[in-house]
Amino acid sequence: IHNVVFKSSDDASIIIAHEIAELIREKQDCCVLGLATGSSPIKVYEELVRLHKEEGLSFANVVTFNLDEYYPMDRSNVQSYHYFMHEHLFNHVDILPENIHIPDGNITQENLHQYCIDYELKINAFGGLDFQLLGIGRTGHIGFNEPGSHYNSVTRSITLDHLTRSDAAPAFYGIENVPKKAITMGIGTIKKAKRIVIMAWGHKKAEVVKQTIEDSITADVPASYLQEHNNATFVLDQEAAEEL
Ligand code: GLP
Repeated sequence: IHNVVFKSSDDASIIIAHEIAELIREKQDCCVLGLATGSSPIKVYEELVRLHKEEGLSFANVVTFNLDEYYPMDRSNVQSYHYFMHEHLFNHVDILPENIHIPDGNITQENLHQYCIDYELKINAFGGLDFQLLGIGRTGHIGFNEPGSHYNSVTRSITLDHLTRSDAAPAFYGIENVPKKAITMGIGTIKKAKRIVIMAWGHKKAEVVKQTIEDSITADVPASYLQEHNNATFVLDQEAAEEL
């Protein structure tokens, strides 16, 4: 993994969006994107929407797979990642609805295991992810792969860490309302992506950024598994890079 530091997260986000746009234009037949939620990618999506509206970037050839979703979670809920993705990207571009894949937080307990297997198979059926966009949680999670996640893990349900739930608490008006579980792509799923860009903005991420990049690879910081990927870039603003 190598890292690049930008003055501001806005500058960085625009560069990332332009890399994605170039890939979409190159892969005319089918471009498979792995997408992330959270505050970190918001500006990237904003720039992609701008490129669609002002520069004719089409998403007709784009297939997307989102990393994760809370469980249980209704898709109409404003806290759902389903809602987030439509609000920030899908409602504003010409992507075909059938090309959008987001883990279903409404799947029954009984069908959950098979659902996760099928999600993984579907990614593979499209030839794998051409590009995976990632944020990072303060536990070192990518997607919702919390500490302890195996480097070969696949799409599955997972129990969220207390720190992750407390970071999400404001959006849910209290930690008691944050779901205890999630569905997430695995580390193995993510690592198979041909290209990975991981973003971190702000002081709050500085420590986990240092652990991810400079410490040894460990299940305690799942993002550190990315050190083994041959085409991964950690994009940082100055604050997130301050401990490197
Ligand atoms: C959530 C998401 C992650 C995301 C992380 C960081 O836990 N499941 O995919 O990377 O939050 O969020 P933020 O970008 O808001 O800091």
